[in-house]
Amino acid sequence: MRILMVGDVIGGGGRKVLAGVLPRLKDELSLDFVTVQGENIAGGAGMTRRTVEELLQAGADVVTSGNHVWDQKEFVEQIDDPALSVLKPLNYPASTPGRGYLDTGTVAVINLIGRVFVGEFDSPFTRVDELLSTGFGEGRPVIVDFHAEASSEKAAMGWHLDGRVSAVCGTHTHVPTADARVLPGGTAFVTDLGMVGAFDSAIGVEIDDVLKRFLTSMPAKFRPVETGLFKFNSVMIETDEGTHLAKSIVRVDREWRI
Ligand SMILES: [Fe+2]
Ligand SMILES: [Fe+2]
Repeated sequence: MRILMVGDVIGGGGRKVLAGVLPRLKDELSLDFVTVQGENIAGGAGMTRRTVEELLQAGADVVTSGNHVWDQKEFVEQIDDPALSVLKPLNYPASTPGRGYLDTGTVAVINLIGRVFVGEFDSPFTRVDELLSTGFGEGRPVIVDFHAEASSEKAAMGWHLDGRVSAVCGTHTHVPTADARVLPGGTAFVTDLGMVGAFDSAIGVEIDDVLKRFLTSMPAKFRPVETGLFKFNSVMIETDEGTHLAKSIVRVDREWRI
């Protein structure tokens, strides 16, 4: 099975680029399943029903999220809508709305969040162990979006789950890494997928906004860059039909101008 995992899509520009690139890639690469990291799709911060629907129309099967998942207040009420196929990180406190995993019958997806420089959450290592001990996703590929800042925490999760899931792919930094590999036990791993966002930006955001915060230490609103040359960052994982573990992982990076 051929699975594409797409990095953080940034704002309306990112959604436009996803809609331009993804349908072509599905044909070109004969993709069976696509996940898209959606935590920045609504104006760069959070998500809404309408913006998630745009990702689904572009070809996403499951939309994952991260620390920005609650930035749009209306989404707290919308996240549980099964038609949206949205995940929140599993290791948020159990009292929060939303679900942290989804078995679609084709591919099973788990969303986790890191704790180093991100926030206070339950242990992603323990929570994923608990889920997998229930037999979650047996008989099909199981893929993990680990939304985390620290490369070390992401590497640790790759090794922790090696041989037990088909893929562990990092998100959150918006910077693609060149370390995609299949670990010895058969789990595909990459530290960060990257983003679908503007090239002339600071991780998808207007450079002046980011500079203002660093130069003055005053609050500055971050506006996504909506035009120009965009990067589309993703990886494709091919899984074995028998074991459902990974046979290969390759970067799939494209450019698109809007
Ligand atoms: Fe992000
Ligand atoms: Fe994030």
